[in-house]
Amino acid sequence: MNNFWAAPDAAEYTRALSGHFNALTPENQMKPDSLQPRRDTFQFGPADRFVAFAKEHRMAVHGHTLVWHQQNPDWLEGASWTRPELISALSNHVTTIVAHFKEDIALWDVVNEAMGDNGKFRDSFWKKSLGDDNHDGIPDYIDLAFRFARQADRDCILVYNDYGAEHSGAKADAILKMTRELKRGGTPIDAVGFQFHIKGLRFDFDDFRKNARRFTSAGLKVFITEADFAIPPPVTPEKLAAQSKLCGEMVRAARAISGCAGVFWWGVTDRHSWLNMPEFVKGGADGLLFDREYTPKPCYRAVQEALR
Ligand code: G3I
Repeated sequence: MNNFWAAPDAAEYTRALSGHFNALTPENQMKPDSLQPRRDTFQFGPADRFVAFAKEHRMAVHGHTLVWHQQNPDWLEGASWTRPELISALSNHVTTIVAHFKEDIALWDVVNEAMGDNGKFRDSFWKKSLGDDNHDGIPDYIDLAFRFARQADRDCILVYNDYGAEHSGAKADAILKMTRELKRGGTPIDAVGFQFHIKGLRFDFDDFRKNARRFTSAGLKVFITEADFAIPPPVTPEKLAAQSKLCGEMVRAARAISGCAGVFWWGVTDRHSWLNMPEFVKGGADGLLFDREYTPKPCYRAVQEALR
């Protein structure tokens, strides 16, 4: 949730966030348009506030995200760039931010959602502008972004994050191929984030385990970065039970994969969730551990059980 400290239900939100989780991810406040709304003018206020909250409550912070095709400021996508100028702007964005948070953020989504569902790279502003001449068909910006992040912090875990790659298929295959090739070429990539925005209350965790192990065998850590399990309306006790089973299975699967280094939910309460944004989401909501009144749901207990 954005700027939760200013929400009418700030006290309840704060209690749930700090009382039940040991890490947090700002949902929007570390994205490019938030952190660098004007060229060379960085705005760290809201993001710093998340970090201060995390420190106060001894929580880790997952930085999300340095380079994406969405939520870019107008000065970036609206201008025309020479290649050296754009590489310099990319370097400035990534290194300034990673350096700013160096003491407090040990895990960054460096590149988010570069791959299309068909296993071909998304034709984003970054790909179109910088091409893919230098890295065997992998858009140059990906390698550059990881290298710049590493320059600014040599210890941080650098993550490639995407959705729809939790299960096997063209997208997961293409991401695996990309990460292997990047590693082979010396790009400092440490981990892959599986977002886990799951619709339809169905998921094959055997397939996930096999898929994730391909990545850990390639020398990468894996994370579950943005979990939610949308319930198609109406919410019924049966559907809550099905959701609960999936959440428990996800946590058990994560624990069974050596090299799976963390599980994050994409929100705290069903009251504040991107699944409630009709412009984005069809196919359900109520995907989180706490309901709209901040009551722990059956899935909360299933996760607790799976963590024992
Ligand atoms: O803050 C403005 C507000 O001032 C304005 O009145 C309102 C009008 O639409 O928009 C508000 O901004 C919205 C912002 O969320 C904050 O609520 C943006 O329009 C909206 O586009 C933005 O959506 C975010 C979305 O990423 C952007 O693509 C969601 O909150 C956020 O949950 C979602 O997160 C992504 C991850 O970053 C990457 N993985 C998928 C995940 C879900 O889509």
